[in-house]
Amino acid sequence: MALRRIPRSLLAAATIASILLIAGWYRRESSGEPFRLYRVIEGFTHSDSAHDGAGAADEFGFDLAHRFPLAESFRGRHFEKVVTLPNLSISETGRTCNWTSNDKVNFMFDGAIEWNVKARPDSEINLRRSQWQDFVRNCPPYKDVASRFSGRGIVLLAGNGDTLMRTKVILRSLNRLGSEVPVEIHYWDDELNDDKKQQLTKIYPHTVFNDLASKDNLMRPAFDTFLINYQLKTAAIVNSRFAHVLLLDSDNIPVIDPAELWESPTYKEYGTIFWPDIARTRPANPAWAITNTPCRMDEFELESGQLLVDKSRFWYHVKLAAFMNNDPDRYYDQFLLGDKDTFRFAWHALKTRYGRPKRWLTSVGTVYQGGYCGHTFAQHHPDDGRIAFLHGGLLKTMTPPVLRWNRDNQSGIFRSYKRAANDQDPAGINEIGIHFFGNEQIPNLPKDNPAQWCTDMPSVEPRGFDDLLPDYERFFEQIGGYWASEKDGK
Ligand SMILES: *[C@@H]1O[C@H](CO)[C@@H](O)[C@H](O)[C@H]1NC(C)=O
Ligand SMILES: *[C@@H]1O[C@H](CO)[C@@H](O)[C@H](O)[C@H]1NC(C)=O
Ligand SMILES: *[C@@H]1O[C@H](CO)[C@@H](O)[C@H](O)[C@H]1NC(C)=O
Repeated sequence: MALRRIPRSLLAAATIASILLIAGWYRRESSGEPFRLYRVIEGFTHSDSAHDGAGAADEFGFDLAHRFPLAESFRGRHFEKVVTLPNLSISETGRTCNWTSNDKVNFMFDGAIEWNVKARPDSEINLRRSQWQDFVRNCPPYKDVASRFSGRGIVLLAGNGDTLMRTKVILRSLNRLGSEVPVEIHYWDDELNDDKKQQLTKIYPHTVFNDLASKDNLMRPAFDTFLINYQLKTAAIVNSRFAHVLLLDSDNIPVIDPAELWESPTYKEYGTIFWPDIARTRPANPAWAITNTPCRMDEFELESGQLLVDKSRFWYHVKLAAFMNNDPDRYYDQFLLGDKDTFRFAWHALKTRYGRPKRWLTSVGTVYQGGYCGHTFAQHHPDDGRIAFLHGGLLKTMTPPVLRWNRDNQSGIFRSYKRAANDQDPAGINEIGIHFFGNEQIPNLPKDNPAQWCTDMPSVEPRGFDDLLPDYERFFEQIGGYWASEKDGK
């Protein structure tokens, strides 16, 4: 019953909750023989792994686990090795990150948060560590479910209202890009009726549906909340009919045919692509010690607005992420925001490197009188650095009059971008943060009109977005990207 409100709140409230959290930042092997299995991967060209992938694997001699060809390769010996590693305490895992305040690191969670001020006790870390280790040891074998999954496809969560409108924009974009990648839309119960389903399949015929409330699902979301329902994202991956899943947020528009992504050498090697966010994980974060992972300075948190994973290779990893994400006490929510970093720490826990794009995100936005305002993340093709997605996370905070004014009087919303000079160096410090723009920064608007949240990289000069994606503004208009400008509201 209470779960009825999930899809709507997933999309609306998630953004607001994220903003509340981030607004404070700106202030400142099967058993026996598995270790040879990876050599049978075909078509793999070894690229510069140290550059492409990341993970807490190398320190422990697990630097090849990411090439195991099957999920079953991890059972037995690999898992036994992982759960018998020497345990690390919070002070030990924190030591490997020595940022200073001069580095202007943009951390997730304010420094005043209690687990940062006073380290969580070893007893708590030991308990949580033994819980996930038991979960992994006792996970039912992948072969029991393997026949449910096949092929490649996009997984979207959609329900009523705004999500439906956003999903239509994505489907129109896929159409225009000539894509034929199947899309599986996950929804809750009667949130998508036959009429709405028909509207969607009419736009993009390669669309299928899954009702997360149905008993046919492998996994049902563990709980409901009034605010963020990120746990639906891990559930959608687990339940998806696809073996190779591209998880996509409904406010994230593909700019190239996503079919290309599964062909990328990075995906072929790692079986994952995790795209970066703008925040880093604090050295005192308990997730490091719980997963026996020394803090890493070369990592940003994940931005799971898009995420690529091969369940046939990383089924247990996905299950572990879903385990953390669906913890009945919501334990991990205290220091990992939503689903996104449960993926990264599941891979760290299982000492497996993950694939990531060579290039960190590019901020896309507009320049107002008050300065640069980034509302969208451009995320890149893992290997060649082209823009693959435009994820308008903060665009949702732009009110209809500001949208209209940008479109009609200011040559659109995709006017400028900021790209860090060291965007191919994940350990490089990128000064970035979030701030609020109101009337003073965006003139000519009704006086009581709250404007929007913006990202900025103060040390980078904005450039014209047409240099990166010529004429995208027109494309955006044609795929109905401006639907929100017709909404009521100031
Ligand atoms: C942090 O550690 C690295 C490697 O151990 C070292 O090269 C660097 O000088 C340290 N930085 C600070 C500020 O202590
Ligand atoms: C590490 O801690 C877990 C519980 O957190 C415990 O089950 C395991 O035996 C410990 N391992 C070692 C090598 O001490
Ligand atoms: C924006 O453009 C429209 C039509 O071109 C015009 O009517 C309107 O006054 C302009 N608004 C502002 C705030 O300049």
